[in-house]
Amino acid sequence: MTKTIGWGIIGLGNIAHSFAKDLELVNGGRLVGVASRSLDKAVEFGNLYKADYQFGSYEELFRCKEIDVVYIATPHTSHAELSVMAMNMGKGVLCEKPFGINSLEVEKMIAAAEQNGVFLMEAMWSRFNPSIKKVKQLIAEGNIGKVGYLHADFAFYALDRSEQGRLLNPALAGGSLLDIGIYPIFLSYLMLGSPDSIEAISNFHTTGVEVQTSMIFNYPSAQALLYSGLNSNSEMKAQIAGSEGSLFLHSRWHQSQGYSLEKDGELHQFELPTTGKGYSHEIEEVHHCLNQNQKQSKLWSLEDSRNLMAIMDEIRQKCGISFPSEV
Ligand SMILES: NC(=O)c1ccc[n+]([C@@H]2O[C@H](COP(=O)([O-])OP(=O)(O)OC[C@H]3O[C@@H](n4cnc5c(N)ncnc54)[C@H](OP(=O)(O)O)[C@@H]3O)[C@@H](O)[C@H]2O)c1
Repeated sequence: MTKTIGWGIIGLGNIAHSFAKDLELVNGGRLVGVASRSLDKAVEFGNLYKADYQFGSYEELFRCKEIDVVYIATPHTSHAELSVMAMNMGKGVLCEKPFGINSLEVEKMIAAAEQNGVFLMEAMWSRFNPSIKKVKQLIAEGNIGKVGYLHADFAFYALDRSEQGRLLNPALAGGSLLDIGIYPIFLSYLMLGSPDSIEAISNFHTTGVEVQTSMIFNYPSAQALLYSGLNSNSEMKAQIAGSEGSLFLHSRWHQSQGYSLEKDGELHQFELPTTGKGYSHEIEEVHHCLNQNQKQSKLWSLEDSRNLMAIMDEIRQKCGISFPSEV
């Protein structure tokens, strides 16, 4: 028998709003509590999305007995610490990407999930996007033959934003790589696995954060060209090409509403809209896992998060990207 999953949300910023809107569209769960560092903000957010409880600290929410799983929507630098705290208090956790800021943090999170026997998943929502799932399936079925090339980018202009904000502030592990570079890296990992070798080069902003990074992933018989940047837009249409055709994820590919298949000189377009903005699909996965008593997702496992972070660690090492909180 399925039970209604009780959700808590901590860190009531931009993404928390998008998530709460999509949560309203999904059966089988309800928003029980929300927590902010400011009680006024929690009350306002809680009223907007009809949460039963509003808390002025994250810890109070972790103590709420009616909450099964906590969605962590704070800046990158607090993901590991808050996830571990929530799990040590018996809660399941869906933590925003990046899972932590490095592999050391990811290992601590995975260890806490195992020790406490609780559910843990990185909120890598694109893994559950219907177009991305379909494209992965088509590749596995051999629709485009042997994959030889993948191109994926993610960029937007952010240099006009506050230097204290998440993106440009080194103290909050700002920069493009962990925030949006993670998506093209994810796509290459999903379709081709961990690369044999990586080439990468970055430019840096005056605040010290990395502002653009180009990456080449080399596989035994394929290469992926990946890019992230905060100093311009990019097209954000992804291509995966093989010996017998190409698949395109429509822009912005990480939240694609459809895909195209180019084969035998013809282009076929398919619409596959998300429910809401698309966070609904990762929410459904969490409900499924909790109802099946699964401690992790089979589609985006803890090993996947571990491998993704290992790739990002290697890129950071090659490009000289470091954060003050790590020293
Ligand atoms: N999956 C996606 O599509 C997606 C999209 C955007 C962002 N994200 C991820 O979600 C996380 C949050 O991003 P966001 O854009 O929502 O950020 P945001 O608008 O800045 O919100 C982050 C929230 O975290 C809380 N917080 C706790 N400690 C903080 C600190 N030292 N400085 C600032 N805020 C702090 C604040 O909430 P309170 O004041 O309520 O405590 C703040 O509102 C990031 O890790 C990002 O990578 C994911």
